[in-house]
Amino acid sequence: MTLKGKKIAVYVTGGIASYKVASFVRLLIKAKAEVRVAMTAAATSFISPLTMATLSKNPVLTNFDDAEQRGEFIPHIEIARWADLSIVIPATANIIGKMANGIADDLVSSALTATAKDKFVVPAMNDEMWANPAVQRNVHQLKTDGIHVMEPATGFLAEGYAGKGRMPEPQAVLEWIEKQTNDQPLRGIKVLVTAGGTQEPIDPVRFIGNRSSGKMGIALAENAALQGADVTLIAGMVTVDLPTNVNVIRIQTFADLQTKLMEEFPQNDVLIMAAAVSDYHVERPDDQKIKANANQQVQLTLKRNPNLLRMLGNQKHRQVLVGFAAETDHLLQNATAELEDKKVDMIVANDVSRSDIGFGSDQNAGYILQPHQEPIKVSKVSKPVFAQRILNEVEKLIRKEEG
Ligand SMILES: Cc1cc2nc3c(=O)[nH]c(=O)nc-3n(C[C@H](O)[C@H](O)[C@H](O)COP(=O)(O)O)c2cc1C
Repeated sequence: MTLKGKKIAVYVTGGIASYKVASFVRLLIKAKAEVRVAMTAAATSFISPLTMATLSKNPVLTNFDDAEQRGEFIPHIEIARWADLSIVIPATANIIGKMANGIADDLVSSALTATAKDKFVVPAMNDEMWANPAVQRNVHQLKTDGIHVMEPATGFLAEGYAGKGRMPEPQAVLEWIEKQTNDQPLRGIKVLVTAGGTQEPIDPVRFIGNRSSGKMGIALAENAALQGADVTLIAGMVTVDLPTNVNVIRIQTFADLQTKLMEEFPQNDVLIMAAAVSDYHVERPDDQKIKANANQQVQLTLKRNPNLLRMLGNQKHRQVLVGFAAETDHLLQNATAELEDKKVDMIVANDVSRSDIGFGSDQNAGYILQPHQEPIKVSKVSKPVFAQRILNEVEKLIRKEEG
């Protein structure tokens, strides 16, 4: 993405590298971006707001009181809404900690908390501060929240020795931001993913479930969000943490899943059905817990659930529809039949008879099948890498649909 014409909020925090932000703002202006600067109180000790106002050609926000005197009563919301993207540069350990924890105790941190659009963080600090486990935890949290964090450079620090924590040069920061925005091929695309297993009640305490861990669907949702997609994840039973960078809807039964899918499907561009959906439900689940008496046999009548993929295949108009086929035998043959039968755009086939891949495992292998194309073989890789391969194919299909 070119930064030309973009509205960019630059947040300066109190690090020694603040002096480099003057050149950075000049580069943004040269790239024909519109720039507004906000500074923390600490930052104003390192570089004058007058310098930043002159270079950015706009008044600088430093605190709530000054803004109020200028008649800007909710300045943090105003700048947050105005900006197409926000850059925190240099980012202190302090602001990283605040952003990671939703703390909003001054103008800069309040504006960042109020910003839903893209955020770029350029940390700069002493090497020991950067290596501190709490700082690293906070950096990890920012990345999980979908915030772009630039890796600091290794080099001569203000303390007079070399170490990791230096702010990269302004030109390198600019190139990194441009690259990050270009590397988001799913920007503006709405992706719906289902993950995990459904549970069909037998009585109030028992259910019929399956061995799905939800890892594959979660990897797909996380990866799509990192590629800029607006992701909704419908999650059944999962054995791992749910991502924080997507909208999550929880479901239990097949019926819940069906209801939520029908609500969400029309407003999405892509649906990836990675959930392990029960093929049957118990016809009459007991209202009371079934007693465990000796010699007593319990008979359950299972009724077939409709096939959601087929239903949606018939219903879809513009959406890209991706299904999963978990097979224990005749993998390619069965998956090819599914592809033809269900009017889907892609079937990911994996062999769940192997204990080293598939259900519960951190790895997966299989085939990506599309109509009128040779199957793409994916050999054993981690589920996030497998997810990336699937999303590459999805992106190609979207581009084809766009013409
Ligand atoms: C001379 C000096 C240099 C500093 N340099 C840094 C720095 O490079 N990175 C950093 O994280 N903190 C640095 N600090 C500490 C921050 O200024 C301090 O944590 C402050 O509370 C940050 O506030 P802010 O995040 O609201 O701007 C420095 C402090 C001083 C006095």
